[in-house]
Amino acid sequence: MMLDVKDLRVAFRRENQPATEVVHGLSFSVKRGETLGIVGESGSGKSVVSLATIGLLPGTAQATGQILFNGQDILTLPEPDLCTLRGDKIGMIFQEPMTALNPAMRVGAQIAEGLILKKGFSKKAARAEALRLLNMVQIPRAAERIDSFPHEMSGGQRQRVGIAIALALQPDLLIADEPTTALDVTVQAEILNILDDLITELGISLVLISHDLGVIARITDRTLVMYRGAEMEQGPTEDILRRPGHAYTRKLLAAMPSRVRASLEVGP
Ligand SMILES: Nc1ncnc2c1ncn2[C@@H]1O[C@H](COP(=O)(O)OP(=O)(O)OP(=O)(O)O)[C@@H](O)[C@H]1O
Ligand SMILES: [Mg+2]
Repeated sequence: MMLDVKDLRVAFRRENQPATEVVHGLSFSVKRGETLGIVGESGSGKSVVSLATIGLLPGTAQATGQILFNGQDILTLPEPDLCTLRGDKIGMIFQEPMTALNPAMRVGAQIAEGLILKKGFSKKAARAEALRLLNMVQIPRAAERIDSFPHEMSGGQRQRVGIAIALALQPDLLIADEPTTALDVTVQAEILNILDDLITELGISLVLISHDLGVIARITDRTLVMYRGAEMEQGPTEDILRRPGHAYTRKLLAAMPSRVRASLEVGP
């Protein structure tokens, strides 16, 4: 098992008050090459789970349980080891690409940076690889755009750059927290297709987080439904869509536009 999360609990300490638990004993696992969707409404704990998985919980968080990545527990791993894992073995795509990108650095240089620092690429080789990646995520006129700053690009283009950065170091596992939420529906579909093709081609495992079951349904093998920090159900995505076992999942399904339901061949 590539990622094996066992009985994860996360609580936040507050001054002069007892800590509040926001994730209540969550367990799930992801095999090599598998895609898992985590779906749930706003505040259900999805981002806390994704931050825990890459070892980026804030200092006020207390986490218990285990997050085994290739057998190593992320929760007890020393920071230098975590640092090596991040980017190198575990990539992350953030919800708002503008916050994840460095506004003062050309996008090509941002993609090249990790290749130079972590993979020993020469400057020239890293730039060539950055160009290849920009083409791979289908940035039009990539040879020109490689020297653009993030603010000179559209939201969709920035998100593609975010994907290129996450894929540059060829991680084994990619965590994407609401990667398309900020984008309009057509761009969203395009980016999901690109992501889907690339992870399949590269054999990367994916944890895709979204409040939108339509997004999850499109590209995941298995789905975990969360509500208020707890699991409602998990299983093959098809089963969750066709035979939701929980009233909350049925609510999420009912909230999907009928057009999306029809395209996924889910009943009324
Ligand atoms: N740094 C923090 N300190 C205290 N509480 C936090 C912190 N981060 C998150 N929480 C709390 O944890 C709970 C889960 O938040 P989280 O951000 O994981 O939700 P989410 O499912 O990602 O929601 P959204 O869909 O809006 O992104 C919320 O109640 C939130 O208030
Ligand atoms: Mg979130």
